[in-house]
Amino acid sequence: MRSHPVDRPADLDVVRESYDRVADNYAHMVATTGMGDIRRHPWLMASMDVFADSVRGLGPVLDVGCGPGTVTAYLAERGLDVSGVDLSPRMIENARRLHPECRFSVASATELDLAEASLGGILGWWSLFNLPRDILPQVLALFARALKPGGHFITGTHVGDGDLVRTEAYGGVPVRWTTHKWRPEQYAALIEQAGLLPIAELRLPSNEFSGPTVVIHAKRPEAPDS
Ligand SMILES: C[S@@+](CC[C@H](N)C(=O)[O-])C[C@H]1O[C@@H](n2cnc3c(N)ncnc32)[C@H](O)[C@@H]1O
Repeated sequence: MRSHPVDRPADLDVVRESYDRVADNYAHMVATTGMGDIRRHPWLMASMDVFADSVRGLGPVLDVGCGPGTVTAYLAERGLDVSGVDLSPRMIENARRLHPECRFSVASATELDLAEASLGGILGWWSLFNLPRDILPQVLALFARALKPGGHFITGTHVGDGDLVRTEAYGGVPVRWTTHKWRPEQYAALIEQAGLLPIAELRLPSNEFSGPTVVIHAKRPEAPDS
């Protein structure tokens, strides 16, 4: 059975164009400054290692909003059957150039056609914060349904109240998108309402690249008779 449709964000095209514009700078900054590179951030790398160990052997893993594929490649190196998907064609061009050994495709998180119980793991690694507040729960429900029982979801996002309208990003490139910030307990509640069980939460203070952030690791409950 295929997935239920998710509403289309009104600003999807503008967000895509913005990420296309910043994609080259973003990939360059990951390579040169360490921004977005989990290898240079022990707590994020540890979270990703736990996720990798948790999903090993469960089935394919999908990195939704993979950008230039840094985390996709990290998981592939750990032997996972992982692929990346991103809204921005230019991000995916960078991902394919930087990580030709990995599989990548272009699509919005809101347009994924995911079969029920088909994935061992899903990531929304700093890639779901542009989704409007009424659409994120629909995407989380789509993810919950696509995970196999016992499958894992990991997400990282910006912490706070309210919405930040961005007009430039990643080295002063003009963009138009909204960063929807979430309080960790609000975000965990949304994940739970989608049918997943939060199992760990890591809160990080502001650093040179970002305000405070949170990582939440959740799983789809096992089938009752398993
Ligand atoms: C801050 S970057 C993070 C990229 C990558 N996950 C990383 O950690 O380096 C945000 C990414 O989310 C993607 N994105 C934003 N909205 C999206 C959507 N609706 N569907 C899929 N990807 C989306 C952007 O194109 C961008 O590549």
